[in-house]
Parts: sequence; structure tokens; C-alpha cells
Amino acid sequence: MEKTIWPGSTQLAPSPVVLVGTGDGRRFPWNLLTVAWAGTLSSDPPIVGIGVRPSRFSYRALKELRCFTVNLPTAAMAETVDFCGVASGADTDKFAVRKLTAVKASKIVAPLVAECPLSLECAVRQVVSLGSHDLFLGEVIAVQVTSDLIDDKGHLDLEKANLLAYAHGHYYSLGKELGHFGFSVRKK
Ligand SMILES: Cc1cc2nc3c(=O)[nH]c(=O)nc-3n(C[C@H](O)[C@H](O)[C@H](O)COP(=O)(O)O)c2cc1C
Repeated sequence: MEKTIWPGSTQLAPSPVVLVGTGDGRRFPWNLLTVAWAGTLSSDPPIVGIGVRPSRFSYRALKELRCFTVNLPTAAMAETVDFCGVASGADTDKFAVRKLTAVKASKIVAPLVAECPLSLECAVRQVVSLGSHDLFLGEVIAVQVTSDLIDDKGHLDLEKANLLAYAHGHYYSLGKELGHFGFSVRKK
């Protein structure tokens, strides 16, 4: 198949799109920013990375408090996610405007979003300057999950959560499940 060659650019898709919670509610207000440059980078210890531009209002809180939350939004929250990615905590209380409930995390000072089914509490272990963005590597030190997503066997049923995804400037809900880890080699 013929291919067109472009210069290097940010084409990886789909990506998660998450609400990152920052601040301590004292020196730095509790705030949210939308982040699509996010991913799991290590299992043990569990590390997530988020790419944040130093010009963001949230940046100082991230750098000084060395913690953040990663809140996974549902498809129904797409408009809220977009809003948190265009409005700034410098002049807007995004929790109030979008009627979101800020919840105290169990181990860090940054806030969780109650309306998100899954939230990760992260302690910053490293900050790497990459160019336009700084990579914040956060160890996930606690996870909060809505109890009704956990079945009787203690397994998380994420399909029920109807999570949001992002690809090249557009928001999507996840489609139907096509298989599970290792299903290609599992005996039928
Ligand atoms: C879909 C989407 C994805 C975004 N991803 C990122 C990102 O990965 N890193 C980043 O620094 N900003 C990203 N932004 C922009 C910030 O969320 C935006 O500048 C926000 O207003 C910053 O909030 P703050 O000023 O309260 O810190 C994204 C915005 C949108 C709408």
C-alpha cells in the first residue's frame, strides 16, 4: 500500500483523555486540567506519565506540591473534559462551573473528581523537561474506584464505566469489547 511520509509529529492515537487534579486548596486552589498526553509507563512500581506545558496555570502546583490525581472521565463527561481543557484555573473555578465534586484524596493533597469512576492518586517521582512539555512521572500510591463497578468476585468491570477516549482532536466513547489479554492463544 502506498504511504505518504510526513515530518515527525504527535499522531499517536487513540489516547486517554483525563482530568488531572492539582493544588492543595490552600496555597494553590484545587484545579483541574485536561490532559491527553498521558499513559501508564511502569507496572512495578505503578508509574503514570503526564505531559504538561510549563505555561499552564496548574504547572506550579504540580512542580511545588509534587502530586496530582488522574481522573478517568466517562463519555457523558466529554463536554466537561473539553471545558477543563480550554478554561484556566487562573480565573475560573472549574469544579464550580461544571458542577463537579472535589473530594479529598487519601494520600495526597490534590483533589479527586467524585463523578469520575476511577481516580489515581500520584506522587511525583521525576520531572523531565522534553521541550514544549515537561513529563511528570507519578507513582500511583492509591486508587479510588466507584464500588458499583466491582463485581462479587472483586473484579473491576470497566466496560460499565463507558470511558472517554481521544484521537486527533476528537472525543470518542469506547466501542464494544473485541477480546481480552491473551485471547489469541487461549484454547477455545
Ligand atoms: C483534549 C485536550 C487535551 C489536552 N491535553 C493537554 C496535555 O496533554 N498537556 C497540556 O499541558 N495541556 C493539555 N491541554 C490543554 C490544557 O488542558 C489547557 O491549557 C487548560 O486550560 C490548562 O488549565 P490550567 O490553566 O487551569 O492549568 C489539553 C486540552 C484539551 C482540550
